[in-house]
Amino acid sequence: MNHPEPEPPLRSFSAAPWLEEVIERRAALQGAAAAIGLFALRPVSLAAAAVPARSTLRFTELGARLAPTLGLSPGHRAQVLLRQGDPLLPDAGPYVPGRIDASEQAKAFGSGNDYLAYLPLPRGSQNSDHGLLFCNHENCYPGLQFAQHPEGYTSAQAAAERAAIGGSVVEVRREDDRWSVVPGSPLARRLTGDTPMAIRGPAAGSPRLATNADPAAERILGTLGNCAGGVTPWGTVLTAEENAPDCFTGKPAEDADPAEVRSIERLGFGYTEHAWGRFEPRFDLAQEPREANRFGWIVEIDPYDPTSTPIKRTALGRFRHEGANTAVGPDGRVAVYMGDDTKGEYLYRFVTSRAWNPDNLTANRELLDEGTLSVARFEPDGRLTWHDLVFGKGPLTPANDFTSQADVVIEARRAGDLLGATPLDRPEDVEVQPGTGRIYAALTNNSERGERWCTDTANPRPANVHGHVLELTPPSVSLSVGPSVGPSVGPETAPDHAAAEFRWSVFLLAGNPLSETHGATVHPETTRHGWFSCPDNLAFDSAGRLWIATDGNENVNQRGDGLFACDTDGEGRALVRHFLSVPIGAEACGPCFTPDGTTLFVSIQHPGSGGGSNYSNPSTRWPDFQADVPPRDAVVAVRRIDGEALG
Ligand code: FEO
Ligand code: CA
Ligand code: CA
Repeated sequence: MNHPEPEPPLRSFSAAPWLEEVIERRAALQGAAAAIGLFALRPVSLAAAAVPARSTLRFTELGARLAPTLGLSPGHRAQVLLRQGDPLLPDAGPYVPGRIDASEQAKAFGSGNDYLAYLPLPRGSQNSDHGLLFCNHENCYPGLQFAQHPEGYTSAQAAAERAAIGGSVVEVRREDDRWSVVPGSPLARRLTGDTPMAIRGPAAGSPRLATNADPAAERILGTLGNCAGGVTPWGTVLTAEENAPDCFTGKPAEDADPAEVRSIERLGFGYTEHAWGRFEPRFDLAQEPREANRFGWIVEIDPYDPTSTPIKRTALGRFRHEGANTAVGPDGRVAVYMGDDTKGEYLYRFVTSRAWNPDNLTANRELLDEGTLSVARFEPDGRLTWHDLVFGKGPLTPANDFTSQADVVIEARRAGDLLGATPLDRPEDVEVQPGTGRIYAALTNNSERGERWCTDTANPRPANVHGHVLELTPPSVSLSVGPSVGPSVGPETAPDHAAAEFRWSVFLLAGNPLSETHGATVHPETTRHGWFSCPDNLAFDSAGRLWIATDGNENVNQRGDGLFACDTDGEGRALVRHFLSVPIGAEACGPCFTPDGTTLFVSIQHPGSGGGSNYSNPSTRWPDFQADVPPRDAVVAVRRIDGEALG
């Protein structure tokens, strides 16, 4: 969820005055070879106007709007597939509005649905009609979800909140143009704030993860605050713990270990959005400060095996993980790209030590436990350099209070500071484009840029309320160096995701291209409906086009959050078009396509949230629109009416 930002002044939607601006910006955007952003202000020849920009996207654009309903490009249909509280496990009861019941909620679809992954059935197939949906449940929204309890906040509510978050595995099937949840599926599963999980990698068994309940640091209860994620080449899901700090209460005691106090403060634990610590000592930082070190990880889960134990992969570092998207390099080693969703935090990459095995999927089980975590520095000359978070290397030594690799991964942010990583404007999703291997990183916004951090070439706007998208390009290597198992960019080369140095550029600066104060660099032919602010989740369709979900457009621009799409190459590069608009108060998250591109699943999170809206008087009752039913987080399945591929 995003927090309100001040509204900037907007110019009116007059098309007349901006021809030169248009031409300049188009030239700038098409000059992809230029390494860095803000070249949009360079004067260019008017001759550029002779070439009309074209998008490969053919859908009719949806008008900008802010409404209690879902809006969709004409010619498409959206079906509400799953809602918070819908029965999921075989013995779950029906949804009861406002119910506070942890055992029923743990058998039902959770709240705050964010990341979505569609995993075809059977495993390894390209089936677009039958599969598993993995869904993160990032948060719950007590003022909207629950009827007010006469006793105020109770242990029952705390338990119901823990049961509502985590994740869901749902078997889904399509017949004609309708998707349905397979009832009684043996593959259906809920992960909650109490589900047992294993710990692997450098922090497994570390005294810094030891608690009264688990002195050996080998078993953690729950996954919390799961925002985005990714799918591995071997078909498991990586779910990212972002908002776990908000689940803890209190402060460490005065005699607490200073290292833990430092770690707790750096990740912002103890925000007390959920007062679980009043009833569960492990969520009270005064009683159990090391419980905080057990969250903020990437968790790997095998959605095809409902009996499998989810595993916290500590080699990938601990921070406010937004997502974890993978790419296979030419030598078969796997890179995982990860953003740390806080103002001024960093972009990370993990590269496995070994190549993955496409012929024996189970042989990849421990692949994410050995490898190198590194952090990005965006050099002003357009180079991106990766700096390894390895104990004993450079400043990561006892002189700086790092005594093991466990310390390095637990305090990855502090390690990133010492390595000179570039503070970014809240890194959200980082996605790899199939085919090119380029990487796109959504930086959602940072209103404090210019105050707490200087502007720089990668974060060029002060008070950046609109956010931007960066484009990272790994070097190409000759495929003669190894087997061709990675995405090819040509007949003889492939992107090297393990390289120490990439190139980078600004793909777009979000905002209204007509507003001088916004300083946006979206394609100049972007319409008054197509521009947006606050990019969050990213996805690529089967044609390699970029889809951008927003979280904060409503706060910044008083236009609904939603889903926008554009080309990344050619004349339509960064020509953004508006496709879907979520109901008031909601953010759009987790866009994900079936392999054939004919269905797009989208998460609609926290409809009706925001000032003055509450359980009895919400700003919308989407998606049920019944007088006694509150707004509910939901997943929609979007298809073209003619059944063709989207876009
Ligand atoms: Fe949950 Fe990073 O947005
Ligand atoms: Ca967000
Ligand atoms: Ca997000």
